[in-house]
Amino acid sequence: MSLMRRKLLLWICCMVLGNGIAFLTVQISRSTSAFSRHNQRVPVVPKKPFWLTSSMPTAYWNREQWRLDRFYNPVFANHSFLGGNYTAPDVAACQINVRAETEITEFHKLPSHFRDFVLYQNCRHFPQVLDAPGKCSTEPDGPFLLFAIKSSMGHFDRRQAIRESWGQEGVQRNHSVRLVFLLGRTKPEDHQPDLQELLELESHRHGDLLQWDFRDTFFNLTLKELLFLDWLESHCPHVRFLFKGDDDVFVNTNLALAYLANLTASQAQNLFIGDVILKAGPVRDTRVKYYIPPAVFDGGYPPYAGGGGYIYSGALAQRIRQAARHVFLFPIDDVFMGMCLAHLGLSPTKHSGFRTFDIKEKDRRKVCAYRNIILVHSRQPGEVIGLWRALQNPMLKC
Ligand SMILES: *[C@@H]1O[C@H](CO)[C@@H](O)[C@H](O)[C@H]1NC(C)=O
Ligand SMILES: *[C@@H]1O[C@H](CO)[C@@H](O)[C@H](O)[C@H]1NC(C)=O
Ligand SMILES: *[C@@H]1O[C@H](CO)[C@@H](O)[C@H](O)[C@H]1NC(C)=O
Ligand SMILES: *[C@@H]1O[C@H](CO)[C@@H](O)[C@H](O)[C@H]1NC(C)=O
Ligand SMILES: *[C@@H]1O[C@H](CO)[C@@H](O)[C@H](O)[C@H]1NC(C)=O
Repeated sequence: MSLMRRKLLLWICCMVLGNGIAFLTVQISRSTSAFSRHNQRVPVVPKKPFWLTSSMPTAYWNREQWRLDRFYNPVFANHSFLGGNYTAPDVAACQINVRAETEITEFHKLPSHFRDFVLYQNCRHFPQVLDAPGKCSTEPDGPFLLFAIKSSMGHFDRRQAIRESWGQEGVQRNHSVRLVFLLGRTKPEDHQPDLQELLELESHRHGDLLQWDFRDTFFNLTLKELLFLDWLESHCPHVRFLFKGDDDVFVNTNLALAYLANLTASQAQNLFIGDVILKAGPVRDTRVKYYIPPAVFDGGYPPYAGGGGYIYSGALAQRIRQAARHVFLFPIDDVFMGMCLAHLGLSPTKHSGFRTFDIKEKDRRKVCAYRNIILVHSRQPGEVIGLWRALQNPMLKC
């Protein structure tokens, strides 16, 4: 076999096996001259960079994400094709997103909470008002499970019901459990009574409130998630597992702990379980709180776990925090988490014990129906305590 043929064979193998873009490009440019000299088929070298074939999307979120993806990708080191003087938003600077008004078609026609969201979209840092600094410091290798519950200022009864039932801190089943509530603030434009002083008393008494100085609204829940991940990094970096959920759910903590303790190290590493929603997309009914205008987001959502409650590993939380920097803020928090997971090449795992859409009506009053359930949404504070006590009863026979 001649040297040239061997070269050709080698080259074909490279074509088939090689998957590195840079590698291929180098091979093609090296071999071209040799091939043409011997009148062989000349490989076609693309004249334009092939990645430009996917043109810039038109919907606002998709377009900004498209730009971010390219901005942070070292393959596209020459950013000039991103148009103008594009730089990724500086999320630390917290400047009003002035570009939004020109970037979104018919910006002025968006619902007001949407315009609000978009204008403050690049703001991810807010001062912390209430903290629980010693929360994780008692155990050098972190608590086993930390409950992080989204709450609002006025929900005193829901928080107390959780403290007295499934969210009890201490050692359960030989595993340490800790609890924090995540809060923003009411602002004058919310026309709510000022409960801040009461909240400070509550924080002093229980030491489990994390509060930041941003307006606590549905569209700011993603912000709450990000601020919590930052807090986690500095205050609770060794936690094994996190439960993140609403303050109107019932959790069967015993079952959750048994499930988590049963996992192998590799299963635990990238754990993200919940009530996974597949093939969903934006709601286009303007009357629904999940409404997303077509000008803002286009296409489907990645798989995500319903925000009523999901469990993920502490190790994954750190990776999600990193990934979130390169994901354009999306106003629906659980979808945003799905986007961050997708960015990491992961997807959440469905667990049939997470019932964010509740169990069958006829079973709701039967204690035994809750034995194999990790989470149910939604329950009143009184129901939460009643259920918890009934499940703790050693005489319970199912
Ligand atoms: C970046 O790409 C543009 C358009 O392809 C080109 O005009 C410019 O010279 C490139 N800049 C650098 C630094 O490579
Ligand atoms: C880019 O920057 C120059 C000078 O700062 C400015 O005149 C121009 O309008 C900018 N272009 C875009 C698209 O923002
Ligand atoms: C409880 O946990 C400790 C420390 O992880 C361990 O040494 C002990 O064996 C456990 N006890 C039981 C009953 O599992
Ligand atoms: C989120 O919080 C910030 C800071 O308080 C506020 O300016 C903004 O309007 C809030 N966004 C929404 C959509 O409520
Ligand atoms: C523990 O793992 C075993 C084997 O995978 C499984 O059969 C069992 O149901 C698990 N227990 C719990 C509480 O998840």
